[in-house]
Amino acid sequence: MARDPGRVLIFDTTLRDGEQSPGASLNLEEKLAIAQQLSRLGVDIIEAGFPFASPGDFNAVQRIAAAVGTPEGPVICGLARAAQGDIRACAEAVAPAANRRIHTFIATSDIHLEHKLRKSRAEVLQIASEMVAYARSLVDDVEFSCEDAGRSDPEFMYQVIEAAIAAGATTINIPDTVGYATPAEFGALIDGINRHVPNIDQAVISVHGHNDLGLAVANFLEAVKNGARQLECTINGIGERAGNASLEELVMALHVRRSYFNPFLGRPPESAEPLTRVRTEEITKTSRLVSNLTGMAVQPNKAIVGANAFAHESGIHQDGVLKNRLTYEIIDARTVGLADNRISLGKLSGRSAFRARLEELGYNLERDDLDDAFARFKELADRKREISDRDLEAIVSEQVQQADEPRYSLKRVQVSCGTGLQPTATITLVNTDGAELTDAAIGTGPVDAVCQALNQLARVPNELVEFSVKSVTEGIDAMGEVTIRLRADGVLYSGHAADTDIVVAAAQAFVNALNRLVAGQQRTPLHPQKTGLHVGDLAAAERPRL
Ligand code: KIV
Ligand code: ZN
Repeated sequence: MARDPGRVLIFDTTLRDGEQSPGASLNLEEKLAIAQQLSRLGVDIIEAGFPFASPGDFNAVQRIAAAVGTPEGPVICGLARAAQGDIRACAEAVAPAANRRIHTFIATSDIHLEHKLRKSRAEVLQIASEMVAYARSLVDDVEFSCEDAGRSDPEFMYQVIEAAIAAGATTINIPDTVGYATPAEFGALIDGINRHVPNIDQAVISVHGHNDLGLAVANFLEAVKNGARQLECTINGIGERAGNASLEELVMALHVRRSYFNPFLGRPPESAEPLTRVRTEEITKTSRLVSNLTGMAVQPNKAIVGANAFAHESGIHQDGVLKNRLTYEIIDARTVGLADNRISLGKLSGRSAFRARLEELGYNLERDDLDDAFARFKELADRKREISDRDLEAIVSEQVQQADEPRYSLKRVQVSCGTGLQPTATITLVNTDGAELTDAAIGTGPVDAVCQALNQLARVPNELVEFSVKSVTEGIDAMGEVTIRLRADGVLYSGHAADTDIVVAAAQAFVNALNRLVAGQQRTPLHPQKTGLHVGDLAAAERPRL
């Protein structure tokens, strides 16, 4: 049997595989904010990025390693293809963390070997072993993944895994890269590895999976029953295509059904010891932060974190819940931190009360950011009598959402619209040189007019592919959160903003998306799984641009 850490380790890859979702790219501040929140959530390992991809990605992993990788904090991990340049960059990037890991991978399925790597099985076996040994010469904690394990010949995979462990891998990850496996098959795959890899007792078995058939979470739970002790997942299940296995669903399944899973970990069914170290009360906040910063909305009926996950609409259900919650509820909303939305501040609250509440909520803003956020809070407090924690979170997530060096900032928005009027927007932007640019446009409605005026000013071709508004809290004076997604050259860029005036929120969200678009067009990071680097000599690949 594989090495057993005595509980299920949660490996969060929101900042790596999650960030590979179309339009989800994050700037440095956003990545740091998410990493800090993941640490509060209590994940065991944070996969912070793919350092070889670009200097920006390298820098982000290094900053996260320094800021979040404390001795008591999570392990900070970076991804590296099985190539020396990738592995060296990764080791440098994670170096500031007290607990650091290199995660290196190579595909093992024949379809990947033939068409992507153009390598024989013998070559892949040799590369895996050499590159794990190289990674192990740089750090003590090395994870090795057999990419496309779900479609690999198990007999060949057993050989690669055995060689990787012999070369020093401490975790062996089994990814269902294309989301093809079914739960029984995936469980049997893990069982087969346990039974056929002679040195498997020296490594932890991990699983990673995509949700193309909606089976990722079910597959992982079968894997746990068969000895997997690390789950690679993302907040809100974001990730390539249909996404990755969702962290909140896995953690809550293991929490709510603890007595069912306990025996698979050698515990008595009634054992109250948690199966993971995740602080479930932080789940809702983490989900909102990731959704706000990536611009990827959570579907209302999403398990655990969807807006309707704890809502009881039908009269029969409401009646039952009022008599006894257990009639229709298997999770108390407070367990995932949902009911905790205190009215915390108001018009008369000062800067120190504002800062103290933000700190209680887990946000430590730098001085300038704090000044800006406080100014926004004061503006909001003039319009809204009571400011709740959700309002504060909306203000802060907008604060960190600004692009690293935003090309434009929004100075003024003015719209006129109504019956018998042509909706018209006049917008003033300030560019990086401090110059003010003003233009006006007519649209089909006020938001359309705002978007037209902004496009006239920025002159960056794009197509608006998503516009969504939702209210942060209840009440007529609630803030509206707007998410905008723009497409340019086939790439998606998102922007998010909140304001009590949704036209202003829309303008700000559009500017945020435009700034990302401009920044994104100046950098094209490598994709770890899709770039052609594998075609040449993988082991010799050199880092190009650091
Ligand atoms: O899906 C996958 O196979 C991956 C690997 C790099 C682990 O993301
Ligand atoms: Zn993946």
